[in-house]
Amino acid sequence: MASKDYSDIAVGDLTPAQAKAELLRLAFEIGTHDKRYYQEDAPSVTDAEYDALRKRNAAIEAKFPDLIRPDSPSRRVGAAPSRGFAKVRHSAPMLSLDNAFGEEDVRDFVGRIRRFLKLDDDEEIVFSAEPKIDGVSLSLRYENGELVTAATRGDGTEGEDVTANVKTMKAVPHKLKGRKVPEVCEVRGEIYMTKPDFLALNKRQAEAGGQIFANPRNSAAGSLRQKDPAVTASRPLGFFAYGWGEMSELPADTQSGMVKFFDAAGFDTNPLTKARHSVEELLAFHRDIETRRAKLDYDIDGVVYKVDRLDWQERLGFVSRTPRWAIAHKFAAERATTVLNDIEIQVGRTGALTPVGKLEAVGVGGVIVQNVSLHNEDYIKAIGNDGEPIREGRDIRIGDTLIIQRAGDVIPQVVDVVIDKRPKSAKPYKFPEKCPACGSHAVREDDEAVRRCTGGLICPAQQVERLRLFVSRNAFDIEGLGEKQIQLFFEKKWIEEPADIFQLEKKHRKALLQEEGFGEISVRNLFAAINERRRIVLNRLIYALGIRHVGEINARILARHYGSFDALQKAAKAAADKESEAYQDLTTIGGIGEVVGDAVVEFFKEKHNRDAIGRLLGEIEVEPMEAVKTDSPIAGKTVVFTGALEKMTRDEAKATAERLGAKAAGSVSKKTDYVVAGPGAGSKLAEAQKHGVKVLTEDEWLKLIAT
Ligand code: IVH
Repeated sequence: MASKDYSDIAVGDLTPAQAKAELLRLAFEIGTHDKRYYQEDAPSVTDAEYDALRKRNAAIEAKFPDLIRPDSPSRRVGAAPSRGFAKVRHSAPMLSLDNAFGEEDVRDFVGRIRRFLKLDDDEEIVFSAEPKIDGVSLSLRYENGELVTAATRGDGTEGEDVTANVKTMKAVPHKLKGRKVPEVCEVRGEIYMTKPDFLALNKRQAEAGGQIFANPRNSAAGSLRQKDPAVTASRPLGFFAYGWGEMSELPADTQSGMVKFFDAAGFDTNPLTKARHSVEELLAFHRDIETRRAKLDYDIDGVVYKVDRLDWQERLGFVSRTPRWAIAHKFAAERATTVLNDIEIQVGRTGALTPVGKLEAVGVGGVIVQNVSLHNEDYIKAIGNDGEPIREGRDIRIGDTLIIQRAGDVIPQVVDVVIDKRPKSAKPYKFPEKCPACGSHAVREDDEAVRRCTGGLICPAQQVERLRLFVSRNAFDIEGLGEKQIQLFFEKKWIEEPADIFQLEKKHRKALLQEEGFGEISVRNLFAAINERRRIVLNRLIYALGIRHVGEINARILARHYGSFDALQKAAKAAADKESEAYQDLTTIGGIGEVVGDAVVEFFKEKHNRDAIGRLLGEIEVEPMEAVKTDSPIAGKTVVFTGALEKMTRDEAKATAERLGAKAAGSVSKKTDYVVAGPGAGSKLAEAQKHGVKVLTEDEWLKLIAT
């Protein structure tokens, strides 16, 4: 079942159970956005939306401190380093900044510092006020004056080793200047690309058919994280030094003194950095820089205020992932007005239909914007879809004049429709009910904003993803046929649907042997692995089909209930009539319910899917699931596995438990009978103790099931 979403409920009104669910949702959402932003250089929400998620998470945690998750976004910054680069552990963590959005937040910030340091009202605090560069933060480690490592921030603890790439940058000295350089000297700052360089790069990329970047920040990140340092060398990247990590000794006792030292050592430091002495002066600095923002050569998304005295910085310290001695004062989002020429529907890898607004090109904050995501059907019906009831006439229509915003210079969004400029002929947009990629029905579930294509197995937009799932470890588990091979065979049009896998040997053996990396032996092994899977157990087959909401557990439940694929298919067909007994039966199987049941019905309703399955069944033999033992000591019991298991994988453990008639659950409750805990068990173990649930070691568990 899809988990509930309580995002509409104000923090003050949340019950503890709802708060817990919200913290889970927020951890997941923020984690997903972090990954898109930090690892893929392709953010999918605006800074303002992202900040709102973080703010809500912090507010819930403040109200329910007992519910703070170990993986809470408040305990980490950024995202783990992506694969492809070696990891570097930062000797001092690379943290983030808290945000101020208005005057009040700045006053609170200064007030907090005064109280913390117990300063008299007349004691002056000097701040270093500087632009907040919208780039990529970087840590440069120098030992005895020589550059040894360059690392991205990553998740703040571990970043990516980009030394080879950074060494190609003119803006980063290989050797520090001056005689008084500390033995270990970690310089931190921001890599950026200027706006003209970004536009020129995109032009070159467009001509060469390469990647187009949404903004200068993404182009700097993308250029830095190239596999080939020669590509980085060809990209004009700048660097401003403004901070530090490990230092064997500090060459100054103020922030401004440190920046002077960086300057003398050979770095660029930002020329707009100034000393400021009061809240009023800070606010004036913010206004001044904001008016100059558009004319600056590089993107900035606010200003940063830092307490200048380092002894005070030291005393103030940090609150989780941000310093008490600094704050980022953000700028209001930049806006522009333009006309919506068309709405195009894109089909994502999971079948989600996303409407994209095609705009009359317009410059927003120095970047040309031509596309704007319209997110989903409801967003078009009521701009922003922010929980307000759908307002008559406040929808988005082709021909409308829209106000566009690039909050924090991320992906543009629609702020409003200029109704006065609406052409008389403009009609409300009718969202397609068929997938534009394959023509299958696109359906929307009751509690979901997204409309999805149901042509999973035949939809070109989803095929590769589906095939990957099909061959994955818990599905057909075909050795030698991983993501890379699937992608390659799909591009060659050798494998477009599951049945093609089993035709590969007959149809493409010769051609495959011509491919690089496919010798006689590996090809023979691959075909042997494929043929070995011509017999497949029913639950694996059901899971492999990639029916929405049908993961491994639900696949097992369905397999056990229906016993054969034929029975499942017949039942799904009959259940298309919601009044039928078949529908009643399907949706009342323990653990299934209407959401999953409806997805099963939709999947089998699609003729394309039925045909593809027919072809597949011509190639394979389906075995029933192993019979469940009802006389075992754990029959009917609920078991939760947690921590690291040493003698079996978690999947194996669950499968064994289920075969012996137990239910393997994901979370601990009063109803849990056993928790099997391995080393590193955390909150689930604590839950078990709270509810008085019996806790077993892995060995005790093995002994129990052996009896
Ligand atoms: S100071 C302890 N100063 O903004 C954190 N950061 O939102 C020290 N940034 O991760 C950061 N300009 O990547 C600092 N003048 C500046 C900055 C700046 C841009 C970035 C930096 C940081 C992020 C926090």
